[in-house]
Amino acid sequence: MDKLLIEGGHRLQGEARMSGAKNAALPILCAALLSREPLTLTNVPQLNDIGTMLKLLSQMGVAVQQDGSTVTLDASGLNNPVAPYEMVKTMRASILVLGPLVARCGEARVSLPGGCAIGARPVDQHIKGLASMGADVSVEHGYVVARTTRLRGARLFTDMVTVTGTENLMMAATLAEGETVIENAAREPEIVDLANCLVSMGARISGAGSDVIRIQGVDRLHGATHRIMPDRIETGTYLCAAAATGGEIRLTGTSAAYLDAVVDKLMDAGCDIRTEKSPSFEAIVLRAPERLKAVSIRTSPYPAFPTDMQAQFMAINTVADGTAVIRETIFENRFMHAVELARLGADIRIDGNTAVVQGVAQLDGATVMATDLRASAGLIIAGLVANGETLIERIYHLDRGYEHIEQKLTALGATVRRVS
Ligand code: EPZ
Repeated sequence: MDKLLIEGGHRLQGEARMSGAKNAALPILCAALLSREPLTLTNVPQLNDIGTMLKLLSQMGVAVQQDGSTVTLDASGLNNPVAPYEMVKTMRASILVLGPLVARCGEARVSLPGGCAIGARPVDQHIKGLASMGADVSVEHGYVVARTTRLRGARLFTDMVTVTGTENLMMAATLAEGETVIENAAREPEIVDLANCLVSMGARISGAGSDVIRIQGVDRLHGATHRIMPDRIETGTYLCAAAATGGEIRLTGTSAAYLDAVVDKLMDAGCDIRTEKSPSFEAIVLRAPERLKAVSIRTSPYPAFPTDMQAQFMAINTVADGTAVIRETIFENRFMHAVELARLGADIRIDGNTAVVQGVAQLDGATVMATDLRASAGLIIAGLVANGETLIERIYHLDRGYEHIEQKLTALGATVRRVS
């Protein structure tokens, strides 16, 4: 198993180019199932999760061509609307094939994702929404089994804001009979990117990005070409790494537009952040203070502070000046990085979904273990500021969501290398 060896104490300086957003690319790859014509995607990040999704789609009969960050999918030969447990258990986002398969084939057999490190993460809202649209949906031997002649438009109200739930139901509704209204919809930018792609395929969608999305069903969708939006969580992660190390970096191929809550908190912590914009170009420049001020955060659905940035902010607060209170309101078990940070000398007290972080003068390198994708990012940030060497184990979590992370960090002046 690969590990990451980091020698701390180097300020991050220089420039890095951000990749396409994993959490936009995953649902958009599934949108290809909705059409008999090819969907070509550009700026697709080269990540393990993307590879897993492409394997899942090709075993369904989708023809996949990948050339670097350009992927073309042709679902005209779709003949196996099944997502087997062996594949789904390695990536929960596989559930995103459910809505498109029911809409396109009138049937689907998708393994339940099962829990993951950060929480139970059920998919009851996905199932409830499809049933409201007229599908017969049951759970049999660990699989969601759905069938319908044709989905009917309906008024859907999810019990809580769910990102992939909104995405699944929006995709299903594009081919339903009549109008579907999704109330209490998630507002994440990745949902807007998915809606833009679906509209370019001929779907009729309005309100994406707000909490009410209206979809007028059509008979079929055609092919299209779509560029995946930049990854706002990758961007926020590198901003935090530079902030914690007292560095100064310039991130290109990305936008500050979707990171207001994160940028505000980094500015509260004492960072100077500005964006460079031209008609064809945008970059974010961050200059960090000598020492950050502690900043408290409370995770909530977009546009509030994203849960996927919580571990990174816990990391920067471990060496900030003061005390930070971190409230995690989305997932029930997303503090596993705290005990690993404590191995580096962090002072963190957990009480339910609240963590109190008392900034310390310095961290000391140690061996730590990654537990989930964003926790890994938090450990990297801590390793970059810790005295001496930090060895991070189980970094397969990292490879799921951060493209070429060693190369990008090394280009920014970090001393980091992968060891087996
Ligand atoms: C998406 O997960 C992201 N994944 C997650 O990013 C992100 O952390 C999460 O949204 C929250 O922003 C992708 O987009 C592929 P939810 P998702 O449904 O859709 C509960 C990463 O690091 N819920 O918005 O699975 C659920 O348990 C990943 O890239 C139900 O109870 O999250 C959670 O407590 C991690 N029933 C809350 O809602 C349901 O049917 C929000 O979950 C659906 C969700």
